[in-house]
Amino acid sequence: MDALTTEQASDCAATDGGQRAKKVFVKTYGCQMNVYDSQRMTDALAADGYAETQSMEDADLVLLNTCHIREKAAEKIYSELGRIRDLKAERAAAGSELLIGVAGCVAQAEGGEIIRRAPAVDLVIGPQTYHRLPDVLARVRGGNRVVETDYAVEDKFEHLPAPKKAEVIKRGVTAFLTVQEGCDKFCTFCVVPYTRGSEVSRPVAQIVAEAERLAEAGVREITLLGQNVNAWHGEGPDGNDWGLGRLLFRLAEIPGIARLRYTTSHPRDMDDELIAAHRDLETLMPYLHLPVQAGSDRILKAMNRRHKAGEYLKLIERIRAARPDIALSGDFIVGFPGETDADFEDTMKIVREVGYASAFSFKYSPRPGTPGAEMDGHVAEQVKDERLQRLQTLLVEQQQAFTVSMVGRTMPTLIEKPGRQAGQRVGRSPWLQPVIVDEKAGGIGDIIEVRITEAGYNSLHAVPA
Ligand code: 5AD
Ligand code: SF4
Repeated sequence: MDALTTEQASDCAATDGGQRAKKVFVKTYGCQMNVYDSQRMTDALAADGYAETQSMEDADLVLLNTCHIREKAAEKIYSELGRIRDLKAERAAAGSELLIGVAGCVAQAEGGEIIRRAPAVDLVIGPQTYHRLPDVLARVRGGNRVVETDYAVEDKFEHLPAPKKAEVIKRGVTAFLTVQEGCDKFCTFCVVPYTRGSEVSRPVAQIVAEAERLAEAGVREITLLGQNVNAWHGEGPDGNDWGLGRLLFRLAEIPGIARLRYTTSHPRDMDDELIAAHRDLETLMPYLHLPVQAGSDRILKAMNRRHKAGEYLKLIERIRAARPDIALSGDFIVGFPGETDADFEDTMKIVREVGYASAFSFKYSPRPGTPGAEMDGHVAEQVKDERLQRLQTLLVEQQQAFTVSMVGRTMPTLIEKPGRQAGQRVGRSPWLQPVIVDEKAGGIGDIIEVRITEAGYNSLHAVPA
């Protein structure tokens, strides 16, 4: 990975020293961890005098928090940077300044290349150094272009300011909390081990303290995040090594926290304690994102998933035995190098056998620097298209069947926010479905029993039970 480099700027104006509060606009791409990171960067910038704005036109600093997981991610960023460059030029003509920053996984992967290709960019910052953002900005204001993509030796979470209560309240009654970052699994299609680095677990005390702060601000539901979240482990206050299951039990003790979720998991890390948590911990919602990627053992091996299709199915059986109403979601890749028609049929087969409540499916896209990109037998685009379409038809059918099966059922629903129409509120079912109810049914943050009356494509309608 790039070491820290600082390039001299040629066209950076000095700060205007204006009177009004500076504003930052953050645009987030990709996964939930990026959503969490954007919040933490906003918090760090708030401490540096930046208020958040929802409009790029209004901003003094535009920060793109980027994703590198699939094709054209970097190209999309470059074309977005082209548009922002024009805004920057307009600003400069009007005598004011707009700073442009690129964060996230494209920043990590591309490093200084971004500044070479997009000279309007003032700073490039990788996910491991977000706590240095105020310092990086100070260097930018001093007339430098800064590329900060080294892996920090210090713990970034120790140095990031805690979210302010008012901010947490603004963000709502559900929250993300990153407990683990990076990945040591090296699936051959995946760029994450290279952009997010090797697996790091945050310490128990740090996680508990952050969850307590969220709860004090009114958060009712926390989703623990990690690229490999169920590989999380750490020393507990009892001196023993805790896994994610034990951590979930601890977090469930925090007053106010009514619901816990976690994502994304690897089948290899579903240990007995975690499965037991699904059985014994009511706070843990009956919904599990457990990607299998493919159904053919040959392809799973080539992907370096380190398990067979049959082992995944057995695992699902054990999880369902522990928590019969659990809903499963997954990720799938079609057209991995060497995937034959028969291999693809195995993917269709495993989907039929498991029955998913929701799923994400993608055409394989070679990521530079990953082993998959170097493999023989790349699949024609048209074949990938056909396979993806067949798979998605099946997955949509399953998802619809799951949604429709909710009609007539009674379930606890967490009221989250006002609905789009006056007089309505949107809640969330235990299975992550949006539930639309009358506003008289309950206040935001309440968990109420509702009966589902109708299923839409993506949401449910309900009345208080
Ligand atoms: N091509 C297509 N899909 C990919 N994913 C990860 N890398 C690639 C790639 N190179 C998918 C996987 C993963 C999800 C987050 O994105 O299914 O689980
Ligand atoms: Fe994208 Fe993966 Fe990075 Fe998340 S971790 S931003 S999905 S590349």
